[in-house]
Amino acid sequence: MITLQGLTKRYGSQTAVDNLSLTIGAGKVTGFLGPNGAGKSTTMRMIMGLDHPTAGQALIGGRSYAELAYPLREIGALLDAKAVHPGRSARAHLRSLARSNGISVRRVDEVLETVGLTKVADRRAGSFSLGMGQRLGIAGALLGNPGVVMFDEPVNGLDPDGVRWIRGLIRGLAAEGRTIFVSSHLMSEMQLTADHLVIIGKGQLITETSVQQLIESSSLNAVRVRGPEQAGLQKLMDQLHEWAVPARWESHNELYITGLTVDRVSDLAFEMGVRLHEVRSIEASLEQAYMELTADSVEFGAASGHQRQPGAGA
Ligand SMILES: Nc1ncnc2c1ncn2[C@@H]1O[C@H](COP(=O)(O)OP(=O)(O)OP(=O)(O)O)[C@@H](O)[C@H]1O
Ligand SMILES: [Mg+2]
Repeated sequence: MITLQGLTKRYGSQTAVDNLSLTIGAGKVTGFLGPNGAGKSTTMRMIMGLDHPTAGQALIGGRSYAELAYPLREIGALLDAKAVHPGRSARAHLRSLARSNGISVRRVDEVLETVGLTKVADRRAGSFSLGMGQRLGIAGALLGNPGVVMFDEPVNGLDPDGVRWIRGLIRGLAAEGRTIFVSSHLMSEMQLTADHLVIIGKGQLITETSVQQLIESSSLNAVRVRGPEQAGLQKLMDQLHEWAVPARWESHNELYITGLTVDRVSDLAFEMGVRLHEVRSIEASLEQAYMELTADSVEFGAASGHQRQPGAGA
């Protein structure tokens, strides 16, 4: 379990992390989301004792990083994949980490196997590709068999096979009861990997929610209705407008209706004698729900053009 209590970090006049208080629980994957510059990496660095909080504290199982006798046995993290001496082999790097944390060197070969680096274990880490470097960083994080694992954008630079591998690894670690805290900008990946989400913007907590709850809260969830008779659809549309239910034409034979269930829409069409060929629920993606929620917190967005949002109400 990770606990943040009023965690704050200021760099000069800028507040990178602003009074964050939350608990990241065990046995699930908590995704850490937020626009560029939101303060995710800074928060993670403070949890790892690499940055000193201006105020508040970050605790791992109730103790700060500095209080842990053998930190790698409590918390493993992949923060900056390039934080390895380039002249050292992967094996030598992991061995020195193991020795400094009272971990058996036999564990080195196990984690090399876990991350698929056994064959290149004696090559200089400096010659590793981005993806191999990520794998080595993950091996280091897992070395002490820690109960808390933290990854900052672990899928950056990984090929599709690597992305799938990390997804499985992360899910597996959570299933073993560990606390997993992972940042990412890849919403499609987070939708598949995370159970719970912590979303920050400009250093502050925007929301803490389950992935499912966030998706359900999106205004882009809709019921898609398709029918062969435009006049019938128009009748349905008029009724919805009368009731102030948001609905719009998607094409000449399709409507998108927001705020009613598939059952309700089907019954309504039946009662009104409107012939339909399809009534289907369209669920917003995590990306859409996230974009709606964080629209006001993006600091470094491009000058925005009009974005069409499928399923948006009238
Ligand atoms: N060492 C530092 N000195 C000064 N400012 C810093 C330092 N580290 C981070 N910041 C600032 O703190 C803010 C938060 O940065 P941080 O790297 O934590 O964001 P992030 O959420 O990880 O962003 P990204 O998604 O781009 O990785 C930024 O405005 C950044 O410029
Ligand atoms: Mg970052």
